[in-house]
Amino acid sequence: MEKRSDKAAESLGFVQGFVRMCNDGWLQGWHERNGGNLSYRLTNQEVAEARPYFGEPRSWHEVGVELPNLAGEYFLVTGSGKYMRNVILDPAANIGICELDESGSRWRIVWGLDGGARPTSEFPTHLMNHSVRKQATDGANRVIYHCHATNVIALTYVLPLTDRDFSRALWQSATECPVVFPEGVGVVEWMVPGGVDIARATSKKMETYQAAIWAQHGLFVSGPDFDTAFGLAHTIEKSAEIYVKVLSCGQGIRQTITDDDLRAIAHDFGVTLNESFLD
Ligand code: 13P
Ligand code: ZN
Repeated sequence: MEKRSDKAAESLGFVQGFVRMCNDGWLQGWHERNGGNLSYRLTNQEVAEARPYFGEPRSWHEVGVELPNLAGEYFLVTGSGKYMRNVILDPAANIGICELDESGSRWRIVWGLDGGARPTSEFPTHLMNHSVRKQATDGANRVIYHCHATNVIALTYVLPLTDRDFSRALWQSATECPVVFPEGVGVVEWMVPGGVDIARATSKKMETYQAAIWAQHGLFVSGPDFDTAFGLAHTIEKSAEIYVKVLSCGQGIRQTITDDDLRAIAHDFGVTLNESFLD
């Protein structure tokens, strides 16, 4: 069967949702130059919808780890070195669909990433996070998103780099936070980006948390759909912004949300807070 045009593939619902999220992140100021990346694990239905647009299969590449629970899955992913602000102008040149082989250890491009582009340099972290979050959510998680959220990064210069310190600061800086991420957030110390080592460290955090902060670099979030994943990043960054503003007032913190307040929120909203982060 003849391959259908890229323009038609770009009108598929999940491609449109993906493109919108790339642009939303750009509009937030989280994607200077080629900063940040996004990946989405397709449903079987979406793979069937997209298949008529797949081109000649390209060569296989090693992930660097084996992820059996992702064997045979398809991912829409941003390209390495591509700018989030350009995705909306030309999706097929800036994003593409990759297939994982039957062992979950190699990927190849089946659509998009035109002109010799490759998936994000953070593809190992995306895939390992997909693997861990798929397992942790019984298959519900489909989105992994990395952004250079300004205030989250700023806090990694002044707060101790522990899960507890960041989770408490974020919970206390916006009342919705304990409801949106009651388990807290993970913090990964500064590491060289783009490889398997940082991927392993991040995915270890993602066994417990929906989000992980990379010191002096940015934020990784997960979610079942684009709205939820983007909303999580937005909530964390907004809370970090408030905390940065509070610190910037320069007079210290006069009052905050207490641990008993946090427990009361959790009780009324029916969520289970990570008690090990409470006094
Ligand atoms: P890519 O352009 O390879 O996606 O890298 C951007 C980035 O944010 C690396 O952490
Ligand atoms: Zn980055």
